[in-house]
Amino acid sequence: MPPYLIVGASRGIGLEYVVQLAKRPDAVVIALVRNPAKSTHLTSAIACLKNVHVVAGDVTEYRTLELAAKQVAEITGGGLDYLIHNAANLDPSTFFKGFDDYTDVEQLDADFIDAFKIDSLGPVHSIRAFLPLLRASSTKKIIVLSTGVVRHLGVANIAAYSMTKASGLLATTKYAVQLKDEGFVVISLNPGLVDTSATAINDSASLTFEPTAISFRVS
Ligand SMILES: NC(=O)c1ccc[n+]([C@@H]2O[C@H](COP(=O)([O-])OP(=O)(O)OC[C@H]3O[C@@H](n4cnc5c(N)ncnc54)[C@H](OP(=O)(O)O)[C@@H]3O)[C@@H](O)[C@H]2O)c1
Repeated sequence: MPPYLIVGASRGIGLEYVVQLAKRPDAVVIALVRNPAKSTHLTSAIACLKNVHVVAGDVTEYRTLELAAKQVAEITGGGLDYLIHNAANLDPSTFFKGFDDYTDVEQLDADFIDAFKIDSLGPVHSIRAFLPLLRASSTKKIIVLSTGVVRHLGVANIAAYSMTKASGLLATTKYAVQLKDEGFVVISLNPGLVDTSATAINDSASLTFEPTAISFRVS
């Protein structure tokens, strides 16, 4: 029964990983979310699924991941086959901003530091916290969700997300090199453009990828 851990599984692509992996009859799926009580899309999606477990954790607060790792060990008996790190900062209120969209540089700094904590340090925290469990399995697979915007250098906006996801990509690559000799496969995966509006946070606007907003993809 291969155990999968999806970090950032309350909605969007992370939630879809949970739903699709749970269809595998032999799979044990663990969904890590910031706030289980508020993860309403996850709650309804897994209501009839017996092979999905939910644990709490925030990738910006390492202590919560250490506690989550203990819970995962109890669920799996001490190992973890697959870590899928999906969590990212796609806050619609800041996502499309470029540097000049900030009149206040202190606000710019605050938004970029918030994004760095989630998108750059988040994968490092996840891999570090769950590495002992991954080492206890023979599968040793780590997948970190990346994005095409780290390569589209012709776009001035989406600045914080692009910078911090690029840094997260480098962090993933560092771990790939570090863990190679232990038999790990560590990859970054770009899912392409995915419409996640059906599971957006209930009380806030979701990202809408209008053709103008994504024009960089076809230029
Ligand atoms: N959608 C696309 O078109 C697209 C394209 C390229 C790459 N990607 C990548 O694919 C991944 C998923 O994107 P998505 O569109 O599904 O995003 P999303 O719908 O905004 O979902 C983001 C997920 O990350 C979680 N999260 C955010 N901050 C967290 C934290 N500090 N700790 C733990 N979880 C946290 C959110 O949980 P809460 O509910 O608690 O906020 C949510 O479950 C991301 O890595 C993104 O960069 C997406």
